[in-house]
Amino acid sequence: MAIFSTTYLITSFLVIFFPNNYAAASVTFNLTHIGPESENLDIVTEGDASYISNNGIQLTPGDVGPPGWGIGGRAKYIRPLHLWDHKSGELASFFTNFTFVIDSNHATKYGGGLTFFLAQNNSVITGGDAMGLPVDVTSLKASTRFVAVRFLASGNPRWDPSVSNDDRVGISISSLATVTYKKWLSNVPDGGVCQAWITYDSVSKKLTVSFTGFENDTVVTQDELAYTVDLRKHLPQWVIFGFSAGSRDFSNQRHVVRSWSFHSSDISLNVKDYKARLIVGVWVTIILILVVLPVVLWKWKKKKNLEDEEEEHEFDLHGTKRLVEAADPRLGSDFDQEELKRLMTVGLWCAHPDPHFRPSMRQVIQVLNCETSVPTLPSDMPVVTYSTCPTSLLYGVTSIVQDQLLKMGND
Ligand SMILES: *[C@@H]1O[C@H](CO)[C@@H](O)[C@H](O)[C@H]1NC(C)=O
Ligand SMILES: *[C@@H]1O[C@H](CO)[C@@H](O)[C@H](O)[C@H]1NC(C)=O
Ligand SMILES: *[C@@H]1O[C@H](CO)[C@@H](O)[C@H](O)[C@H]1NC(C)=O
Ligand SMILES: *[C@@H]1O[C@H](CO)[C@@H](O)[C@H](O)[C@H]1NC(C)=O
Repeated sequence: MAIFSTTYLITSFLVIFFPNNYAAASVTFNLTHIGPESENLDIVTEGDASYISNNGIQLTPGDVGPPGWGIGGRAKYIRPLHLWDHKSGELASFFTNFTFVIDSNHATKYGGGLTFFLAQNNSVITGGDAMGLPVDVTSLKASTRFVAVRFLASGNPRWDPSVSNDDRVGISISSLATVTYKKWLSNVPDGGVCQAWITYDSVSKKLTVSFTGFENDTVVTQDELAYTVDLRKHLPQWVIFGFSAGSRDFSNQRHVVRSWSFHSSDISLNVKDYKARLIVGVWVTIILILVVLPVVLWKWKKKKNLEDEEEEHEFDLHGTKRLVEAADPRLGSDFDQEELKRLMTVGLWCAHPDPHFRPSMRQVIQVLNCETSVPTLPSDMPVVTYSTCPTSLLYGVTSIVQDQLLKMGND
């Protein structure tokens, strides 16, 4: 019967006890109007002057900043994203869309811009044309790995040998150069509200960006930008993600994100190595004992009505074998006897009255995984004194089980 499969039980208990960390790695949220209440609840702002107002995330608020490269800001989602898993090799897909404003307050000379980024956890935020990305100001090289969709990556010949100075949407990978870009019909002097949709498909490895622009003061959806990239090669397994922006000293334009929704797919994790599995294995054993115990009791009572109570107590390992035989006949042979025996034995082993005889977590999981044989418990396991109050539920339960096994051993 499948319900007795160790793997099934362990998986079920992982879901119950560790829902966020192990079973569900996906991130989903829908922030339609971002306001101050989102600060440190959904979003964490970082940088020179970032904060959240009733009008959204003010990545650079447009105040006068320091000279040079201007100011930089960043807003990341409160939790990191499990982008891929090293053990299983699985990669997440994601979809995000957001509305944003870049406003130079009627100035026609402007620089910098806004990005949607995924990056290694880091604290470097560089303003100006680096758009708040983790870039070393002197060398203009990435200080940590990132992948960013950049809006307004105007061609700066220092790092991007592009042919025109048009406003653009581009994709950058751990560099200020773009791997691909498209002209963007932005409306920065008037602070037009724009929208973007970004999709990453883990099967095709395609990163697709759709965005709106302005034509004759009307919002138009422009041709999408796409780039095929295996993000596992460019980013760590866990990434921070969100928006960054930088403004130049000569314009100090505002960069604002007003709404943001995000959804990533689950990636199945290889739970074999998690320490939690050890703890869960023991829990499963204890709970299984609780389930099987009433059946055993019933069977035993039926068999042993007028038995002599004074027999010498001797712990018999083969009690577990009988326990299996004693399991409710309705189960028939419809379960894995070997697995049940392993679970029962481990339960007893963990409950040994002498702590020195109890197994390590490693030993427990080895037995549960059938990586080593069932241990041979000492034939004369000490008897628990029932008159002593059990100090915990665990001891209470295990002493009852021992009692039954001792009596069965004398059958
Ligand atoms: C987010 O919420 C808005 C308004 O409640 C709704 O129109 C939109 O479909 C939602 N988006 C997602 C991805 O759930
Ligand atoms: C990221 O770095 C910050 C600051 O060093 C730290 O508090 C946080 O725990 C880190 N997060 C992750 C997911 O590593
Ligand atoms: C914008 O105006 C130009 C010239 O008036 C016209 O050719 C073009 O079709 C218009 N575009 C849109 C999207 O209306
Ligand atoms: C995402 O795009 C959909 C339309 O595709 C729109 O209804 C929704 O409001 C957008 N969400 C955000 C947060 O901008």
